[in-house]
Amino acid sequence: MERLHISGGRALDGNISISGSKNACLPVLAASLLSADQIDISNLPELVDVSTMLRLIKELAGKCYELDGSALSIRAEEIQSKKAPYDLVRTMRASFLVLGPLLARCGYAEVSLPGGCAIGSRPVDQHLKGFEAMGAKIEVRDGYVIAETPEGLQGADIYFDKPTVGGTENIMMAASLASGTTNIFNAATEPEVKNLGDFLRAMGADISGHGSNQIKIKGVSHLKGCIHKVSADRIEAGTFMVAAAATRGQITMNGADPRELEAVTELLRESGAEVETSVDRIRVSMDARPRAVDIETAPFPGFPTDLQAQFMVLNAVAKGKAFVREQIFENRFMHVQELIRMGAKIELIGSNMAVVTGRKALKGAPVMATDLRASSSLVIGGLVADGETIIDRIYHIDRGYEAIEKKLSMLGASVRRIRK
Ligand code: UD1
Repeated sequence: MERLHISGGRALDGNISISGSKNACLPVLAASLLSADQIDISNLPELVDVSTMLRLIKELAGKCYELDGSALSIRAEEIQSKKAPYDLVRTMRASFLVLGPLLARCGYAEVSLPGGCAIGSRPVDQHLKGFEAMGAKIEVRDGYVIAETPEGLQGADIYFDKPTVGGTENIMMAASLASGTTNIFNAATEPEVKNLGDFLRAMGADISGHGSNQIKIKGVSHLKGCIHKVSADRIEAGTFMVAAAATRGQITMNGADPRELEAVTELLRESGAEVETSVDRIRVSMDARPRAVDIETAPFPGFPTDLQAQFMVLNAVAKGKAFVREQIFENRFMHVQELIRMGAKIELIGSNMAVVTGRKALKGAPVMATDLRASSSLVIGGLVADGETIIDRIYHIDRGYEAIEKKLSMLGASVRRIRK
């Protein structure tokens, strides 16, 4: 088990490059199973979740890829197994994204019900509703979703009850090889969905409207190989933006796309930070104590739920009081108890609202990471706090942040990884 030791109280200062996006590359890796041709992917981040997806691909299609640093060549010539086992799917919910490609390519799939971050029950009913509308027969048995399409997948009109990123992606992949046209209504509009649509188009899919809440996919008989560069991770960039402001430092994030972070930029400016942007660069600086700002998470282009925990730390050391409302996931306040251990004043009202009263300072403490984004909030807490913070269970952070301590050290932080 590894821990992070952080000696806090230093302003972060310097430049970093933003890595390839976890949430953008996982669906692209799953979609690689849709073709027997070669797909070349660059700018792949080195993350535990990416290794998990590659292990799953190996399970399904054999060792069909070569990985050279951040460059991956993948050629899923033959699907050898149609079963995504529990031990792989339980560690990462995005594994469920292989259901669409398997069903489209083989007409049969067994995929374990997902696990991943412990942030609420996170059902997959909308995915299944979509596949059923496309003619799949679905059964849930012994913790597995067993899906088959005796007559092949048929295009359909699918209305999601709520926008779901993974659900939209799963259906887009399956519909690309279905017969006829699929229309997804109330689709998720996140940049990662747009990105997957562009990737599928490069493979020869006939997709339009991706990035809006209505997507049209005309099925084709075959998808071909292509070349793809993974876009920058907007959540990693957003995390460093908040860290710059919370530590009253200045960070330039190279490679970040400011159009994907407008809601975060706006709130940081409200808190008193200076945010400068160009096409692929964001610079955040803060030279005074931040002002508290209310946050309400929402689907894109609203404030991302994946940055709620980090922003809460900024509010914890800000002047004034802020309301934080989590609207995407239930039970996404597990960082609160840990931040309270560091001296933060946070009161929970029901399961989706927190009231944060800013303190002049936080104090280092031993804390425990509970999920991916909660763990990055504890890192920011440790950077801001006086004294030493020890974060346990940092395997959560390695799922989604590439070289976190290296990047933080480059910005002047005192961070060490210790093996227990
Ligand atoms: C993706 C992201 C995750 C992010 C989330 C919301 C990846 C790998 N993960 O997760 O980082 O926090 O989007 O932006 O891209 N829901 C249902 N039924 C379903 C599917 C979802 O009720 O069938 C609910 C979920 O429980 C949640 C909400 O819909 O409350 C949004 O979930 P969804 O957009 O599907 O999130 P993920 O794709 O799992």
